[in-house]
Amino acid sequence: MADISTEICGVKLKNPMVLASGIMGVTGSSLANVVSHGVGAVTIKSLGLKPRKGHSCPVISTFKSGMINAVGLSNPGINTGIKEIKKFKDLCDAPIIGSIFAFKRDGYGELAKKISKAEPDLIEINVSCPNVEDEAGTPFALDKKAVYKTTKITKKNTDIPVIVKLSPNSLNIKEIAQACEKAGADAINMGNTLGPGLVINIETARPILSNKFGGVSGPAIKPITMKRIWDIYDEVNIPIIGTGGASCGKDAIEMIMAGSSAVGIGSAVYYRGLDVFEKINKEIKEFMEKNNYSSIKEMIGIAHESKL
Ligand SMILES: Cc1cc2nc3c(=O)[nH]c(=O)nc-3n(C[C@H](O)[C@H](O)[C@H](O)COP(=O)(O)O)c2cc1C
Repeated sequence: MADISTEICGVKLKNPMVLASGIMGVTGSSLANVVSHGVGAVTIKSLGLKPRKGHSCPVISTFKSGMINAVGLSNPGINTGIKEIKKFKDLCDAPIIGSIFAFKRDGYGELAKKISKAEPDLIEINVSCPNVEDEAGTPFALDKKAVYKTTKITKKNTDIPVIVKLSPNSLNIKEIAQACEKAGADAINMGNTLGPGLVINIETARPILSNKFGGVSGPAIKPITMKRIWDIYDEVNIPIIGTGGASCGKDAIEMIMAGSSAVGIGSAVYYRGLDVFEKINKEIKEFMEKNNYSSIKEMIGIAHESKL
């Protein structure tokens, strides 16, 4: 019987599926509902210090091979987020990842201290949102000094393991990953949406999104995510959550073989529904049994040593 459990920084997951941040919001009950659909861990929508409205609609659109979004980090603020994480923990035992974002480095320290009170299993720092550039400037994830300092200040303010969520836009991802590890990051999530990109409605002759531009996700970005995971696995010794474009068991297995210990699922929830988690787990299990893999651990990074 294939064992599909996995582990991130000592936190045990029943299976490698992680609900990506921003997909099912912040409420404890909606996140707990995802657990009932077979996910291994959930990530709350990124929380900031204050409530934030985000961009006006339309904020999401699909295209042939993926999605584009510019939600603009809308969220109810850290204080409400803390209550919702506690509610989730009352409702179920699955691990929860508390995601935080700030526009200034010190904000991450303050948020890390606050969110730790809710005792999420892991804290993820979103330093890579591509669709708030007007307000936030270049994402910290693209600058190795900025990512180092942001990780360091977060680590200083919490005892909970910290995941740094990076950007597929980074062309120097090895240096960026190294900076994370040096600053004490416990894991890396590779990664956020790619872009910003643009989709135009040809009937109205206008961009579809109110923000015009947005982060690109879904199948279109998977090969980019894959190469970034590959490079990070080569460079550092901390676990990776591979996120960006996975929508079936084969995609998840590819990400694991490139070096991911777990696989984040975002856009696929929109086009395959919440059952996507159970379906992918089943597909992973079937593949493992057919190919004589007994554990996820056996497959992590295996493509790096493959001599076939
Ligand atoms: C509608 C939407 C909202 C998102 N909000 C967040 C967010 O608040 N924080 C974050 O770190 N990532 C956010 N993301 C990025 C996803 O978590 C994920 O990294 C990205 O979509 C790539 O994965 P996918 O191809 O499986 O969707 C969002 C993505 C979408 C589509």
